[in-house]
Amino acid sequence: MDHPITVDSDACTRCGICMEICPMGIIAQDGPDDLPRLVPGGEAVCSRCGHCEAVCPAGAVSALYPASGPQHLPGGSAAIAPADLAAYLRARRTVRRYREACVDKETVEALLDVVRFAPSGMNGQPVHWLVVHDPAEVRRLAGLAIAWMREASRAGHPMADLFGVLVRTWDAGVDQICRGAPHLVVAHADAKDPMAYTDSIIALAWLEVAAPSFGLGTCWAGFFQIAAASSPALLEALGLPEGHAPQYAMALGYPAYRFPRVPGREPVRVTWR
Ligand SMILES: Cc1cc2nc3c(=O)[nH]c(=O)nc-3n(C[C@H](O)[C@H](O)[C@H](O)COP(=O)(O)O)c2cc1C
Repeated sequence: MDHPITVDSDACTRCGICMEICPMGIIAQDGPDDLPRLVPGGEAVCSRCGHCEAVCPAGAVSALYPASGPQHLPGGSAAIAPADLAAYLRARRTVRRYREACVDKETVEALLDVVRFAPSGMNGQPVHWLVVHDPAEVRRLAGLAIAWMREASRAGHPMADLFGVLVRTWDAGVDQICRGAPHLVVAHADAKDPMAYTDSIIALAWLEVAAPSFGLGTCWAGFFQIAAASSPALLEALGLPEGHAPQYAMALGYPAYRFPRVPGREPVRVTWR
């Protein structure tokens, strides 16, 4: 890696917090008056998490991502009352009925920009996005998933019964694959990256949580993902970069209905030691 941290010697107060916060322990400060520095070989293990530049009270540590940042957070600007957060999270619902209206690309980009800050293992940030914005293309891809399920259930796939229901419903004009959503978001990543699946799920969970703040709803496209993982035709239609695999997909659009109530859920099951 070619991004050793640089520290503004005039601005740096030598407080040492960057050194304390570094998850890899690769920032050293020789004495109280010395500038923090990267230890030899530190570049190789730096995960570019940016905690050093984000935590610095003096803003003295250089940007690791010159194109995007660090952004200043005025005190208290990220505070949210637990009751407000609970109300927001509880109000989120899986959306299976969508309005026909398309979501403009700028809004989808703004949503993905929020998701960009999701955590990832070793800050690997492996997730890439395919946004199928054209509703007709979403239908075509759902149709390919159904075509694979039709064959798979004939061939005795262990999920044949469920596929049979999905196929019959599709034939009756109802899309249970992408839920008739105008858009489909596919998280994809290097097929060989062992962290990619978990990181993709986390990113999609963030997307799902952030979507209602944009007036949007989502539905995890689990049936779509099962087909995408097995159907060469569907995989080809996705047109992902060489070596990438679809990690998971999510339908996206404006919800047709509002849920005025929160459904019940299991109580918290916790063991204390
Ligand atoms: C990994 C995963 C896959 C899912 N796949 C589907 C799916 O293929 N179709 C669907 O309608 N809902 C799908 N769901 C949505 C769940 O059914 C839904 O989260 C659950 O019923 C709880 O409802 P809620 O999200 O409104 O709280 C999926 C959810 C998850 C987390």
